[in-house]
Amino acid sequence: MSDLTALEQRAIAELHACGDEAALRQWHTRYFGKQGEVALALKRIAEVPPPDRRSYGQEANRIKEALTAAYEEALRQAKERALNETLHADAVDVTLPGRPVRRGRLHVATQTLRTIASIFTELGFQIYRSREVEDDATNFELLNMPPHHPARDMWDTFYTEVPGVLLRTHTSPGQIHVMREFCPKPIRVILPGMCYRYEAITPRSEIMFHQVEGLAIGRHVTMADLKGTIVAFARRMFGEQRRVRIRSSYFPFTEPSIEVDMDCIVCSGKGCGLCKRMGWLEIMGAGMVHPVVLRNGGYDPDEYSGFAFGMGPQRIAMLQYAIDDIRQFWANDLRFLQQF
Ligand code: DAH
Repeated sequence: MSDLTALEQRAIAELHACGDEAALRQWHTRYFGKQGEVALALKRIAEVPPPDRRSYGQEANRIKEALTAAYEEALRQAKERALNETLHADAVDVTLPGRPVRRGRLHVATQTLRTIASIFTELGFQIYRSREVEDDATNFELLNMPPHHPARDMWDTFYTEVPGVLLRTHTSPGQIHVMREFCPKPIRVILPGMCYRYEAITPRSEIMFHQVEGLAIGRHVTMADLKGTIVAFARRMFGEQRRVRIRSSYFPFTEPSIEVDMDCIVCSGKGCGLCKRMGWLEIMGAGMVHPVVLRNGGYDPDEYSGFAFGMGPQRIAMLQYAIDDIRQFWANDLRFLQQF
């Protein structure tokens, strides 16, 4: 009996002497491990002569529980002490001024694309994404340019090693995809995206650039609708006072075809360096969808008509911000990009 009392007193004294969690855990192994003193004391119950066994057993178990409770309490306190110490030592001074976060921004080409997209969505157009890797048929033939058609010379093309597969030279092949997907429903979409041309890189031309194609198809779509749409777009994009001029032109996939000019944003038509003394700036090609193209898209040209247009938003951004070199767009020069 006195053995047990001595064990308890020693254990409690050592427990209180433990300075931290590690020491406490060592203490626990010493007393409660498989060969620990408490474990041995409990095992010894069987060896105690029967008259004393009951009271020895009760006392041994009481000690076990008392020590366990004392251990858990000491452990809790040690953890709390450690936490308080780290909170104190690693304290964050919340009154220090924050480090400024450098804000990124959208690329000027993306900003222009988004402005164009929001104007056309206001006008009731949906946005349709089309593939950048195309087949020859969709990029040319279905747009009314059979093999060897001289109009193909208008687009210098990147061909892939797979016969008949190329990088689209314009967003117009998207017209075929939209028509085939929605025929015979009416269509009003724009198709923004990247195009590729195997051209010399100059201040005015790049091998990759954005285009925004537009397509509207229905039962009574006319040139007047095309004109109204273009004027509405130009005024929202460039300002209410803009004037728009239409010239006749040629594209294989439209008949009639037009090119659209806007009075120069710098000189308002008087003639300056930007418009090369012309007073006008070209903003897009357009026209009434050619009957062959309508038919290739699944629409009967006797019942349906449509208009289409295509513009280069980077050219448009160049006009708006007086950017004099199209190569700036992909040159990744922060001095350029941070201006927008
Ligand atoms: N695809 C033409 C180009 O890349 C632009 C164009 C002109 C698109 C007239 C059209 C259009 O939809 O009607 O030069």
